[in-house]
Amino acid sequence: MKQHAIGIFDSGVGGLTVCHELIRRLPNERFIYLGDTARVPYGTKSPATVTQYALEAATFLQGQGIKLLVVACNTASAVALPELREKLKLPVIGVLEPGARAAVAGGGCRIGVVGTEGTINSGSYERSLRSLAPEATVFSAACPLFVPLAEEGWAEHPVTRDVAGEYLAPLLRKKIDTLVFGCTHYPLLRKAIRSTVGPDIELVDSAASTATEVADLLYSEGLMAGEGEGEQQFFVTDVPTRFRRIGSSFLGAELHVVTQVHIG
Ligand code: DGL
Repeated sequence: MKQHAIGIFDSGVGGLTVCHELIRRLPNERFIYLGDTARVPYGTKSPATVTQYALEAATFLQGQGIKLLVVACNTASAVALPELREKLKLPVIGVLEPGARAAVAGGGCRIGVVGTEGTINSGSYERSLRSLAPEATVFSAACPLFVPLAEEGWAEHPVTRDVAGEYLAPLLRKKIDTLVFGCTHYPLLRKAIRSTVGPDIELVDSAASTATEVADLLYSEGLMAGEGEGEQQFFVTDVPTRFRRIGSSFLGAELHVVTQVHIG
């Protein structure tokens, strides 16, 4: 079991921000990543549809013989985690709770959350943040155009800065001190977002705290891989060209082999 891979999925390239951190923290592990690129975005779809997609993605990864599943998508973490945990006979870790923990760790008391419509409408971040830091005030904003901009690779494009200005202005008027990226695609737009919010607001994402949670769980369950060459496999549900091109810059390594699969 220890030598089995860790499965990771997202709707597209966004989860690579989590995958990158996992590879950095757990270099001996094998990772199998699935980007459900045929059906991106998840964030504009109903909870029932996202849950169905998440179950199909998880079933594909389980079929690859994984020991643990990381749901590297806030939208799926917000709406599908209970069902995934019930249906899979595996430990399942989402990114939303780790994201909320990372947000309160900085000690901010006016916390802005940006995410997909699905994540923001679920109220999951607000609930998690309020239970972790009852004294904090939470402000949320859905930013649906951020996902296609990230998938397009427009990390620093003027259009991205304009869109960020529109979406973030209401949060800036609330004088937030912390901004949580409640979507794993958004760290890809970090530079445009940083130039919009200025230098003083703490920008938080869930990648590092998710990697810590995965490492702790592997250790406590005796599932940590021994010394060896870690490796990664990448699957997508549509043609891999764009995923390979954009994903490699965010993973920080070439994505030589990306295989297209059908999961629905
Ligand atoms: N990156 C995912 C998230 O964290 C999904 C974005 C989308 O497909 O809309 O929510």
